[in-house]
Amino acid sequence: MRTPLMAANWKMHKGPGEAIAFFNGLSDAVADVKDREVLICPPFVDLYPLGRMLGESRDRIPIKLGAQNMYPTEEGAYTGEIAPPMLKEVNCDYVILGHSERRRYFKEDNAFINEKLKAARSFGLVPILCVGEREEQRDAGQAEAVVTTQVREGLGGVEVGSAEELVIAYEPVWAIGTGRTATPEDAQTMHAQVRAILADLWSEELAGGIRILYGGSVKPHNVDELMAQPDIDGALVGGASLEVESFARIVKFQIVS
Ligand code: PGA
Repeated sequence: MRTPLMAANWKMHKGPGEAIAFFNGLSDAVADVKDREVLICPPFVDLYPLGRMLGESRDRIPIKLGAQNMYPTEEGAYTGEIAPPMLKEVNCDYVILGHSERRRYFKEDNAFINEKLKAARSFGLVPILCVGEREEQRDAGQAEAVVTTQVREGLGGVEVGSAEELVIAYEPVWAIGTGRTATPEDAQTMHAQVRAILADLWSEELAGGIRILYGGSVKPHNVDELMAQPDIDGALVGGASLEVESFARIVKFQIVS
């Protein structure tokens, strides 16, 4: 069974003051949630105070921490960058890699993202590899080919011992921050395809346990139908993760059968 992973990507929003208040508010709001994992990926400067809160009371706070990026080496002369062991030190379990905004604005390509995945694994962080086609690629009928290349090149040579060690997020670029979502059926088709690639890379068994999240305008009003799809194992949420109430509602999705 795959435990749903409901992840917040705050992007460049909220400094430490707001982040701490949110963390406390969300802890209360999701205190009764037992069958899903809740993850916050805040800006770097928030990780230390939030990680301390987790270190002091992991039992009380049912939330995990992740970073939005990292540099793929242990330490060194890389001005402005953050290394994997630093993330471990502040209680991060996850790191988002290859988000479409990093690909677009910071020119990250599959080869560099692949280096980051290998580094994340070697330092014990769980990478969330983001993949997804741009609108013109979907219109040209290239969506599946683009995503296949991103998955295969992003994961080349990455060692995954158990299904908990990797998460994939399918985020069609045209759905991010636009209010447009893929239909649950289109998302399901792509998720099933990604899972088939994972099975080809490793094994059916491993692929069957790896969580594939959907991202791109996930909101309280559409999360239930997305999560009802068999290969959608969670959500990576931007805009709707910035308010406790809306993110808590997303975490508490309900599957109506
Ligand atoms: P959005 O962002 O929910 O605001 O569309 C999702 C993401 O970029 O991860």
